[in-house]
Amino acid sequence: MKIQIINGPNLNLLGTREPAVYGHQSFGEFLTELRERFSQIQLDYFQSNSEGSIVDKIQETGFDYDGIILNAGAYTHTSVAIADAIAAVAAPVIEVHISNVYAREQFRHHSFLAKNCKGLICGFGMDSYRLAVESFL
Ligand code: DQA
Repeated sequence: MKIQIINGPNLNLLGTREPAVYGHQSFGEFLTELRERFSQIQLDYFQSNSEGSIVDKIQETGFDYDGIILNAGAYTHTSVAIADAIAAVAAPVIEVHISNVYAREQFRHHSFLAKNCKGLICGFGMDSYRLAVESFL
């Protein structure tokens, strides 16, 4: 099984970015643990701060991979282009968020992406990604 993880803007700063909200662990550290835990799965990782690059990666992997785990960061709340890319590809996409976006500012309560995703997992910290991987098993 091949799963693509895509992280959007500012998620390259996990570990140092607002640790009270996003925790102290870098994504690199977390990914090592995730790959050890799911050694039977090919877990590929991509991060970009650019909306177009995220669209490109969804198109590139969306006909080849068994699933995509997408944390589009702030683009979740703004991007019709990413929503359209999710709808355009064959692979099921799981939307994830580290924080519980529904317990935060009103503008984080709306996702342009969720209706085109297979499911949505949020609020479990980094464990949101682990739960998303489990959903493909
Ligand atoms: C986030 C939540 C978004 O609202 C925010 O813009 C992010 C991170 C999360 O993982 O909790 O960048 O997607």
